[in-house]
Amino acid sequence: MQTKQELEEWYEQDDPWEYTVTPDDIYRKRFYLTVLEGLGEYYDRALDVGAGEGFITGDLPAEQIHAIEISDNAASRLPKNVERVFVPEGTYDLVLVTGLLYKQYDHERIARLVSDAASKHVCVGGIEDWLLPYPFGRMVETFRFPYREYTSVFNVYEYERYSPWKG
Ligand SMILES: C[S@@+](CC[C@H](N)C(=O)[O-])C[C@H]1O[C@@H](n2cnc3c(N)ncnc32)[C@H](O)[C@@H]1O
Repeated sequence: MQTKQELEEWYEQDDPWEYTVTPDDIYRKRFYLTVLEGLGEYYDRALDVGAGEGFITGDLPAEQIHAIEISDNAASRLPKNVERVFVPEGTYDLVLVTGLLYKQYDHERIARLVSDAASKHVCVGGIEDWLLPYPFGRMVETFRFPYREYTSVFNVYEYERYSPWKG
């Protein structure tokens, strides 16, 4: 598993994955936001888990936006309209978790946190071959599109508590 220290070092430079200048990431972000717009919601509260520097976070359609990010270097660059939190503060009608439910991260803990924080829609994105199968309720939409040398998926769930933690 990648450690916090490794992630801090990775984020010593700005935008280490070059999201802001890579056409596939600009497309990915636009794709996510278009799907959210299609759901026809303006959310009260959104939580982005593993938000990085907030490449997507700052543009989420929500009144209040919280971000959870393990790297202090990354979090120091979050947009001004995004508040960093260390644990979910109550529940959120939108939870976004993209590029994070992978084996190199603490995915079990993250999935549990997402499950505890969600109240309505959970959006999960990532590289198809890497994404671990955590269902967060009834899947209402699913998309696949080319991304760098991979295929990217984006799933929208209507939240139901993830079964291993029911009860
Ligand atoms: C591949 S990046 C994805 C960034 C962003 N979600 C996106 O889709 O563009 C994964 C991010 O998750 C963060 N991360 C990794 N493990 C984490 C954890 N346990 N809690 C919070 N953030 C974590 C990393 O520091 C990194 O910023």
